Amino acid sequence: MHRLLNELHQDHVNLGRVLRILENQLGLLRAGADADIHVLGEIIDYVQSYPDLVHHPREDMIFAAYRARALPGIDVIERLMAEHRTLLDSTAQLKVSLEQWHCDSPMPREQVAGQIDDYLRLQWEHLNLEEGSIYGMLAEGLGEEDWAGIEAGLPPGSDPLFTDQMRRRYQNIYERVVESAY
Ligand SMILES: [Fe+2]
Ligand SMILES: [Fe+2]
Repeated sequence: MHRLLNELHQDHVNLGRVLRILENQLGLLRAGADADIHVLGEIIDYVQSYPDLVHHPREDMIFAAYRARALPGIDVIERLMAEHRTLLDSTAQLKVSLEQWHCDSPMPREQVAGQIDDYLRLQWEHLNLEEGSIYGMLAEGLGEEDWAGIEAGLPPGSDPLFTDQMRRRYQNIYERVVESAY
């Protein structure tokens, strides 16, 4: 598999760890306990800083190169590209809801929990579809020439997880992410 697909696969592994922390917070909410607003805020910040901002635009470049080859499976590729836009909006909407909820808004706990649940489902279905069959399809369909073109236009950025920056910026989820990695 091309180096870039391996890196994007590692992004999925890291995002999966963060989604499990979100699942944990959802479990607390559903049990009537307090969710940790700092943990929730850092999860949103992470998703907006890396998966939404860098990971999905990178995939979009690969998807566009695949689509240009007119190979089978373009309908699924277009669905995934549309989901990138949906995910971007969903993360932003979830951020607004969590902030309103934190400010003692009348939004019921069940409504916030339902929104987190929907968001998790969207994220997991998207990630599992890419991991389950699409990355293999891309690896088979794209050649060296395609990869060279993609790499030349890649947006910059690296995953902040497991870096010193992560330790400072994501103080409330850092330990949980690192622990779940081993
Ligand atoms: Fe994606
Ligand atoms: Fe992805």
